[in-house]
Amino acid sequence: MTGYILAIDQGTTSSRAIVFDGNMKVAGIGQKEFTQHYPASGWVEHDPEEIWDSVVWSARQALRKARVKASDIAAIGITNQRETVVLWDKTTGKPIHRAIVWQDRRTAPLCARLKKAGLEKTFSRKTGLLLDPYFSGTKIAWLLDRVKGARKRAAAGELLAGTIDSFLIWRLTGGRVHATDATNASRTLVYNIEKNAWDAELLKILGIPAALMPEVKDCADDFGVTDKAILGASIPILGVAGDQHAATIGQACFKPGMMKSTYGTGCFALLNTGADIVRSRNRLLTTIAYRLDGKTTYALEGSIFIAGAAVQWLRDGARMIDKAARSGELAAQADETQNVYLVPAFVGLGAPHWDAHARGAIFGLTRNSGPAEFARAALEAVAYQTRDLLDAMKKDWKGAAAGTVLRVDGGMVASDWTMQRLADILDAPVDRPEILETTALGAAWLAGSRAGVWPTMAQFAKSWALERRFKPKMDEATRAAKLKGWRDAVRRTLTA
Ligand code: G3P
Repeated sequence: MTGYILAIDQGTTSSRAIVFDGNMKVAGIGQKEFTQHYPASGWVEHDPEEIWDSVVWSARQALRKARVKASDIAAIGITNQRETVVLWDKTTGKPIHRAIVWQDRRTAPLCARLKKAGLEKTFSRKTGLLLDPYFSGTKIAWLLDRVKGARKRAAAGELLAGTIDSFLIWRLTGGRVHATDATNASRTLVYNIEKNAWDAELLKILGIPAALMPEVKDCADDFGVTDKAILGASIPILGVAGDQHAATIGQACFKPGMMKSTYGTGCFALLNTGADIVRSRNRLLTTIAYRLDGKTTYALEGSIFIAGAAVQWLRDGARMIDKAARSGELAAQADETQNVYLVPAFVGLGAPHWDAHARGAIFGLTRNSGPAEFARAALEAVAYQTRDLLDAMKKDWKGAAAGTVLRVDGGMVASDWTMQRLADILDAPVDRPEILETTALGAAWLAGSRAGVWPTMAQFAKSWALERRFKPKMDEATRAAKLKGWRDAVRRTLTA
């Protein structure tokens, strides 16, 4: 058997597929963007059919680029944007509505009602999450309540629900397997992370029939075999993890105290806490980092909804820059005497504030403020928000206090200026690895190790290689003044 693995990375703005060879090197990539639908303020939807087409197209493209036949692929690993939900017809495989995306805020009123009924503690204790529209459970409830006939069809056993991984597994296996993995399940608001099972009480509160939900498996497990007609051969799907969890694996953060932060559309920092379920007192999330051989490893997570998306907004919305990749260069030219702060609450604020109603704001503009100052403010906002997460993690868990090093990945980390500023604001080292395709690599490792063609966890961890370490250089007084300005800007943006 060859060591070729196909990783499918279904993200928020594009689907990607990467063929890795037996030495864990990239052999071919396929990528396709798809449409973002914004049917109302704060609503975000994706067409599951378009997602499916983009995944199949990317996978075929990756195989072509790698000059590899489908029959040479030992296994598939899937990783995906988390919390986004699809409801589909069991017989036809057709979605009953567009997917409701993780960023979507439409269930804010339902979350507020549940909070008012005093239920946040119950949800938090069992799931490690908070009552915020971010998570899947209230989105599934919305679909059941608002799509005509959905509740009746669900009761009759005609429908299935799932996050994007489940939908892809269902389609790839030709409708034979309805499954998910423990990490994706841990983002639904109806999964008990202590018992590792769907929670009957929470399902009942949200009015979700248990039969709608997929079977929950380990991250490296048997998720069925692809229908030969799709890629040209039957390939076993042996690895599945939500994208942030796959990145944690790809960054080899296998020991308690290790932490990674991925800068994509949003920014998600995960701190491995080992077998400990650390309950946050500072509005972070407790989540499943990964589950292997039935053994669960937990993490504390800080979720920021807008990171790279702020740079996209500068390019597409404000039209102040022409290329996202140039934002670092531009920020470096900004006038350091200006104190411009951008609070990118475009879809509310995530951790540690959880304000679904806040919206973006900019402070400190002068007549001299231009694209360079805006670019710097957008990139610094990412650093400030990461700092807020790190501070909360340190307060929550003593394992985070000593000598934290942050392993970073995602599109934004290519900018040296941004990474240096991140280290300066965090007052902690930032490590950028040689391989930046960490999310896909994590999914590939799950599948490859399960197939027995890739190295064990310990050997894989050894292969992680540092490209560059950014050490803090900023003086303490400057850092303190900047952080004070940021906290003031956030305070003025919050709605409650
Ligand atoms: O929780 C949402 C997250 O999984 C989305 O990740 O990389 O598509 O921004 P990304």
